[in-house]
Amino acid sequence: MNSMAEITEKEFNDIRAMVYRFAGIYLGDEKKSLVVSRLNKYLKKYNLRSYGKLLDMISKDNDLLSKVINSISTNVTYFFRESDHFDFIADTIVPRFAHSETIRIWSAGCSSGEEPYSVAICISEALRKQRSHANIKILATDISTDVIKTAQKGIYKIDALKNMSTDLINRYFDKKDKKTVQIKSFIRQLISFRYFNLRNNINLYNKFDLILCRNVMIYFDKSMQKHTLELFYNALKPGAYLFIGHAESIYNSGLNFEFVKSAIYRKK
Ligand SMILES: C[S@@+](CC[C@H](N)C(=O)[O-])C[C@H]1O[C@@H](n2cnc3c(N)ncnc32)[C@H](O)[C@@H]1O
Repeated sequence: MNSMAEITEKEFNDIRAMVYRFAGIYLGDEKKSLVVSRLNKYLKKYNLRSYGKLLDMISKDNDLLSKVINSISTNVTYFFRESDHFDFIADTIVPRFAHSETIRIWSAGCSSGEEPYSVAICISEALRKQRSHANIKILATDISTDVIKTAQKGIYKIDALKNMSTDLINRYFDKKDKKTVQIKSFIRQLISFRYFNLRNNINLYNKFDLILCRNVMIYFDKSMQKHTLELFYNALKPGAYLFIGHAESIYNSGLNFEFVKSAIYRKK
């Protein structure tokens, strides 16, 4: 078998339809080489001659379908990404909720955990400074079971903490060895990591004060974006906040979200 099998137009269209059906991720024509480079390893692993054969296997094996989606989706993330959001949490959100019993947050599309851990650290710092004892409860979800497993462990390379002061690092991370650190357990305990596909609906007992869905909807088409925004709208308390990525927008959603500032919206 050659090292990089060719993909036919039909095979690419079938893969793109399958990814869209399952995850709502839209693969434009320009993603063809990405699909080939990320999926070629499965052809090698199972000794398959074509992407058509891989599609046959996927249609009978849900675990393989998840693995393929994991391979295609982009999981890039880092601590305190888009720092404006963390300033807004500390300066505006926490003072508003410091006297509540519990602050509830959902990090949707949390990848390997850097986003919800940054939120937990940011809120803990702000509450500490205000001497508030409000509880923090964070739900962190992703469609990729691989990243969820990494997130649950909370182990990262020391190099990943370059945006943080030594003070912050010492307060929230334990050193594991020369190159790695682990988030302290009192912070890990604030977060429930769960598999959740944004394609689906969610039944909630408690609604959220803040939802972050950053750099996720950018991979969705308009109708999947609309579905996701409706999900968030229904999951937020009135007056609660939605953060999206700075490269994303929610114009024309038809929902009653008020623009607060760049990449920050509020449910009316
Ligand atoms: C680029 S990462 C963004 C991580 C983080 N929110 C940030 O901004 O740094 C996008 C994440 O969205 C997840 N994702 C993509 N489609 C999804 C879906 N349908 N449901 C849930 N998560 C999804 C991917 O698995 C990936 O971990």
